[in-house]
Amino acid sequence: MIKKGVILAGGTGSRLAPMTKVTNKHLLPVYNKPMIYYPIDTLKKSGVTELLIITGTESAGDFMKLLGSGDELGVHITFRVQEGTAGIADALKLAENFVGNENFAVILGDNIYEENFKTIIQNFTNGAHIFLQEVEYADRFGVATLNEKNEVITIVEKPHTPETNFAVTGLYVYDSSVFKKLEIVEVSNRGEYEITDVNQMYIDDSQMTASFLEKGWNDAGTHESLFYASKLARAMALEAQ
Ligand code: DAU
Repeated sequence: MIKKGVILAGGTGSRLAPMTKVTNKHLLPVYNKPMIYYPIDTLKKSGVTELLIITGTESAGDFMKLLGSGDELGVHITFRVQEGTAGIADALKLAENFVGNENFAVILGDNIYEENFKTIIQNFTNGAHIFLQEVEYADRFGVATLNEKNEVITIVEKPHTPETNFAVTGLYVYDSSVFKKLEIVEVSNRGEYEITDVNQMYIDDSQMTASFLEKGWNDAGTHESLFYASKLARAMALEAQ
């Protein structure tokens, strides 16, 4: 059973400037709630309620003020601060003590999902699992190539000419061997420690499984995608009424 989840909410949010000049991206509104509420809710609906939120030095206080212990949202939250913005795989290293040797979920704080992941997350046993979505413009995502058995054989981070349109979305389920992989991942050409390189290690060990999303998803990291994330969030809110 997976109880623990990590939400990554650091980074610079530079693609959302000037809105992120004084506010952390994950505190910006998405329809009627701050962005961070959505990944919290996605994990909670999956039965994952012991949460670690990792954010940067400048806004850690704002997150604590907004979320407190998590009681109001029905979750338990602890916080860790990432010094700098060296990448998703760099931030994830900070989760090692929190996770121990359990299986756990990781969600990027700017990913808004309509889907309920409870079955997949709670049936996970070992290795890693990722969630794919076919998109029109894959070049701003991690892009997966599959074989004829629908197994993922490569993931390339933001390729200029994507081989497929299958984006790797920002929810990952891992066993605790991820922390050994995080120790050996090297900095990429764009100067970051990439989660894609960690996922490729699982693929190379034949330890990666993947499934396709069946419902809406948006990464709210650009002006356009934030706009569409708000539309998706509005549709979700109206449907829940
Ligand atoms: O949204 C899905 C995509 O997210 C994946 O397809 C890509 O493979 C993955 O690399 C990621 O790409 P992005 O370019 O969208 O990542 P971004 O830099 O926006 O970071 C995603 C989240 O991770 C963001 O909400 C904040 C957090 N983050 C990021 C960095 C660079 C941190 O907590 N610390 C960091 O140092």
